This record gives sequence, C-alpha cells and structure tokens, in this order.
Amino acid sequence: MRLKLHFSRLGFCLLPLFVVLACQPAPTHVEQGATSMAQFIAGMPKAELHLHLEGTLSPQTIVTITKRNGIDYFRSVEEVKKSLADRKPGLMGFLGHHNKSRDVLQTQQDFYDATFNLLKNLKDNNIIYSEIFFDPQPFTNRGIAFDDIINGIDTGRRDGEKTYGITAELIMSINRELSVDSAFAMLDLAYAHRGKILGLGLDSGPEYGNPPIKFKAVYQRAKEQGYHLTGHHDVDVRDSLKHIWQSLDQVALERIDHGLMAVDDPALIKELVRRGICLTGSPVKRATDPRMQDVDRIIYLDAQGVCVSLNSDDPAEFETGYLTNMMVVFQEESGYSRADMVRLMRNAFTASWLPEAEKQNYLIALENYLRTHESGH
Ligand code: HPA
Ligand code: ZN
Repeated sequence: MRLKLHFSRLGFCLLPLFVVLACQPAPTHVEQGATSMAQFIAGMPKAELHLHLEGTLSPQTIVTITKRNGIDYFRSVEEVKKSLADRKPGLMGFLGHHNKSRDVLQTQQDFYDATFNLLKNLKDNNIIYSEIFFDPQPFTNRGIAFDDIINGIDTGRRDGEKTYGITAELIMSINRELSVDSAFAMLDLAYAHRGKILGLGLDSGPEYGNPPIKFKAVYQRAKEQGYHLTGHHDVDVRDSLKHIWQSLDQVALERIDHGLMAVDDPALIKELVRRGICLTGSPVKRATDPRMQDVDRIIYLDAQGVCVSLNSDDPAEFETGYLTNMMVVFQEESGYSRADMVRLMRNAFTASWLPEAEKQNYLIALENYLRTHESGH
C-alpha cells in the first residue's frame, strides 16, 4: 500500500532531524531516476532489528582486542578467517565460532569500541534506526561487571549516534541454554540501567530443550519493568513451530526473530497476519552455502501477507555481511522489484519499537525515497 504524501520534497526535508536523515538521496554520484538496483538499495533509508553486537567484530577488530587483552588465540586475521571457514553447519556449528570470538571482549573499552565501530558500519549502510542485541550472561559468568558491559555499549552508541546522526537502541538477550535463575539475575543487574535498554530477547542455543516457555516468568517480569519482548526461533530447529506458538500464546512476545519455519503451518501464518506479529528474517549466506538461505521461505511468507523484514544478524560472520550487501544478494536471488524491496523495509520500520509518530515519519521517508527513485534497472 502506498502512503499519500502531503509534503513537497523540500518541505518534507525541513521536518525534524530524524526525517532529514531519512530523506537523504542515494549517494551523490548517482543520477536521480537512473540508479541501478544496487545503488537504489544502498541509498534506501533502513532499519535493522536483528543484529548481534558480538557478531559484528571484524577479524581485524578481534585481533586488535586479543593483543590488547593478552588472549592466546585469534592472534592473526588468518586464524580468525580459518575458524570462520571451518564452522560446522547449523546453529550449534555457527555458535562455536561466534562464542569464541565473543569471548575476546573483556573491558568497558572493548564494549565501547565494538559498539562505536558498529555504528560507523550502520551509517555506511544508511541504517538510520537499529535495535541491537547484546548477551550479558557469558560475560558476567566470567566475572566481567554488568556495569562495564552496559556502560561501554551505551557510551559507544551514544557517541556513535552523535557522530553519525543515527539512532541505535539496545535489546538485552537471555542465553537460552543457561538457567532461569541466571536470567532473573541478569534482569536484576540490569534494573538500574533499564532506561538504556529497550527490549528483552532470547538467543543462543541449543534451542531444542530450551523453549521460550522456559523463560515465561522472566519475560513477565521484564514486561512489568517496561521492556519490549522478542525471542529467537531459528530455522531448521526441532520443534520450531511449537516454540513459535508458545511465544504467541503463552509468552506474549511482540516479535519473532527468524521464525521462518512458519511456512510449514498455514494456521500459524494466518495467526501471524491476524495479530500483525512480524518476523525478523535473516537470509544470510556462508561461503560454503551454494545459495543464500531462506529466500523462498521469505518470498512465500511475504506473499501470504506476513510482516517479514530483512536483517543481517551477525554481519562479520556471514559472507553476506552488512545489510546493504545482504539486500542486494536477496534482490538478485528473489527477483524482487524496487517496490518489493521497499515493502520489506517498511516491515522493518513497522515492526520496530519506535514511538508511533516517529515510525510514521520514517515510513513516509521510505515512500518518498521510492517515489523519487522508482525508475531504473
Ligand atoms: N540465533 C541464535 N543465537 C545467536 C544468533 C542467532 O541467529 N546470532 C547470534 N547468536
Ligand atoms: Zn540472531
């Protein structure tokens, strides 16, 4: 559906700062109306809702931090790249490397640097609004103070927001393989910082045996404390559909991360549409994958009217990298038009936890972008 525009382009760009950012045209070397699809995607104002701070550490950043912290693995970029290349398939294979590189982060400065670097990458991808996951428990379990983690991340994103003129919110995530007591302890540690954190998530693995219902009471308390609620339902996980139903009916999650196994359950698809619950899809590709993952599932769900968005998840750990590149690959594999790509991006803004008025402004900015860049190849 197209929004009616009530602003001239100039008048529109005189709206508040966040809208000014959103209405920036594609890079200046690109001729209006003659942009290639890749340029169109690059210049599109974007939101990203499924992005793990710990999955954004580049091989070079990892090596810089291991040297600084005197860590005896990942001493060279080649070593990090080999570990990435040697991963086993599936979620647990992915987590093997992810957790090892996550563990190089130790000090407040490390968390600051990781976050500030990430915001630079977001800016380069025209991501004007993001909600970023971070997982405190593996760090606090190793004796790192919660305050060091959150203060490093919060200061890094505030400085990044000022430097790059973008907005970055935070989602604190439960490690699902850990105990309910541990999740409650994390919530207690976060209490004094809850103004800095927008939502509570659920990630890591294995997912089978650690369903969303396990954390129902934690989610309930988090909701009482003002957090938004989301949770991971990775693809190709046993009982994924059961977990998604649990999250809708018993845990009252507002959003489903991944959730693409819904393609296999027509009743679930209907329910997602009826309730307007959005899925944060992550159609990534590893170097060893013959094709990008999940393209067909996303096309199917989109055609059924499910609100599904595109997200990069762990851009340093997948060949598809950050959002612009990932969207370009998705467009090539799906054959989606410009309007289709904008519809998926509308879904990201719709699914975001932005205040309603800001959300509407961003959505208008996106429609304006499509209107002014509609032609081309
Ligand atoms: N799923 C589960 N845990 C994760 C993910 C994911 O996609 N990314 C980082 N930790
Ligand atoms: Zn994820």
